[in-house]
Amino acid sequence: MASWGTITRAAAAAAVLLLMLRGIDPAASAPVSIDPINCLDSGLKCCPPPSYKEIVDFKPDSQPTPLRIRRPAHTLDAEAAQKYEKAIALMRALPRDHPWNFIQQSNVHCAYCSGGHVQLGTKNVTIEIHGSWHFFTWHRAYLYFYERILGKLINDASFAIPFWNWDDLAGMSIPTIYRDNTSSLFNPTRYPTALNFTNLGGCEGDGTPGSLDKQKLCNLQVMHRQFAAASNSTSIFFGGALRAGGGSFPGGSPIENSPHSPVHVTTGADMSQISKSGYDPLFIAHHSNVDRLWAIWEGIPGKSSKVIADPDFLDASFLFWDENLERVRIRVRDVIDPRKLGYVYQDVPLKWMDIKTRVEDETSILQAQDLARPYPVGKLNFPLRLRSAAKVNVRRTASRGETLVVSDIELDGRDYVWFDIYVSRVDGGGRAQAGCFIHMERRSDKKIPIITKMQIGIADVIKQIGAAADDQIVVTLEPKVGGDKVTVGGVSII
Ligand code: C2O
Repeated sequence: MASWGTITRAAAAAAVLLLMLRGIDPAASAPVSIDPINCLDSGLKCCPPPSYKEIVDFKPDSQPTPLRIRRPAHTLDAEAAQKYEKAIALMRALPRDHPWNFIQQSNVHCAYCSGGHVQLGTKNVTIEIHGSWHFFTWHRAYLYFYERILGKLINDASFAIPFWNWDDLAGMSIPTIYRDNTSSLFNPTRYPTALNFTNLGGCEGDGTPGSLDKQKLCNLQVMHRQFAAASNSTSIFFGGALRAGGGSFPGGSPIENSPHSPVHVTTGADMSQISKSGYDPLFIAHHSNVDRLWAIWEGIPGKSSKVIADPDFLDASFLFWDENLERVRIRVRDVIDPRKLGYVYQDVPLKWMDIKTRVEDETSILQAQDLARPYPVGKLNFPLRLRSAAKVNVRRTASRGETLVVSDIELDGRDYVWFDIYVSRVDGGGRAQAGCFIHMERRSDKKIPIITKMQIGIADVIKQIGAAADDQIVVTLEPKVGGDKVTVGGVSII
C-alpha cells in the first residue's frame, strides 16, 4: 500500500509519545469505535440526550424491502417532492429530545466532528469523521439511517432521499424543491448567489455576459480533475488512516476537499459550518451526491481493489438510532456495498468524465500575479507560511511518481483555509491545477491544533502538461483564503 508520504522522525516520535500519554499502546492498532456514554459538549451542545439503552449490532434487512432509488433533486416529480417535504416536516415536529427530531438528527453529524463523541477506551479523545478514510463511510451510514427514519415517518419503505446533482449542468444551483420559504426543506441562511450557481471549487463568475456558462464548464473541469486526482489509488480516494486513539485529520480525500467543501461554503451560513450544516435540509442531498461519487468510482473497473482491506478500516464502528428506535452499532464493512443497504442511484449522464483538464498559459499568469521564479530544488524554506504563492521544483522520488504529497499542513481547525495546487514543467509551458486543500471553519472556544497532509494523484495532469517522463516538476501552492493562517511543511512526489 502507498505510504502517506514522508513523515519526519520527530513527528513520528511525538505521535507515539502522545498515544502513550493518553494511555494507548501504540503498537496495538485497532479500529475506531465510539463510547456509548461519553460525549463532550465543547461549547457546541450537540451531544445526544444520554441513553443507556442496550446497543444492538447492525443487521441488514432480513426481509426483502423495496429497492430505494435515489434520484436527482431537480428532477423529482411532484408526488415524490411532497412525500419528502412531509417526512422532513414530521421530523421537525417531533419532541425536541426525540432521537428522530430534525435538530437531533442534525446534531448527530455535529457530535461526530467538532469534539463531541469520545472514542471507546479513551477518556477524552474525540472522533472526527472528516479528513480521513472515514469521511465517505460515516456519511453513508448516517444517510442510510436518516433515509430509513424518513421512510418510517411517512410509512413508505421505498422512500429514498434525493441527491443534489451538482455535477450535472442542469443541477448546478439550489434545486427548486428547497426554495419555497414555507416548505420544511427551506433554510433561511442560504446565500442569494447560491440560487443561481453551485460553485464546485474556484469557479467564480466575472460578471460578463456568458459568465454563467463559463462557470458551469469550470465546474465540469473541477469534477474531472478531482475525480482523476482521487482515482489514482484506493488509499488516495478514501483518505488517510484513522485508527483507535488517533487524533484527527490524517488527510482528506481529494473529493472531500473539492467538490465537497466548496459546495458547503458557497451555499449558506449554516452549510458552511461543519457543526451546523445539518440544519439545512440541503445537507442530506449534498452528501447523497458525494456518496454517489463513491458508488460511481467503485463501479469503474480497475486493477486494484476498491476497498481498503485493513481491518482497522473495515471494523471501525459508529452508533446511530435506527428506524425502530434501536441503538445500532454499524461497522464500516456493513456500508461498503449500497445494494446491501437496499438503495441505488439513478443513472444519469456524467458529462465531466470525458472533459479535458485545462492547461493555462503560464506566462500570462506569471505577469498577472507576479509569482516568484521557481526555487532550485530544496531551496524553498519549509515550513512555509502561505502568505503568497509559493513555487518549488520537486523531484519525483519514485521513478515517475504520480502521487503529490503536501505534508505537515498546520492550522487552527477553527479557521477557513483554502489553497490551490498547480503543476507545470520545469522548462516552462502551461500549468494545470492538480487539486486544492480546503479546510472548513469549525466553532470552538479553544484552538483546534491540526497537522494534516494532502495526497493527490497527478497522473492525469502531468500527462496534460506533457511532463509524464520528466523527473522534476514545478509545484505552485496558491493561497485563496486564509493563507496567512496555514503553514506547509513540505512538498514531495512519491
Ligand atoms: Cu460531514 Cu459535508 O460534512
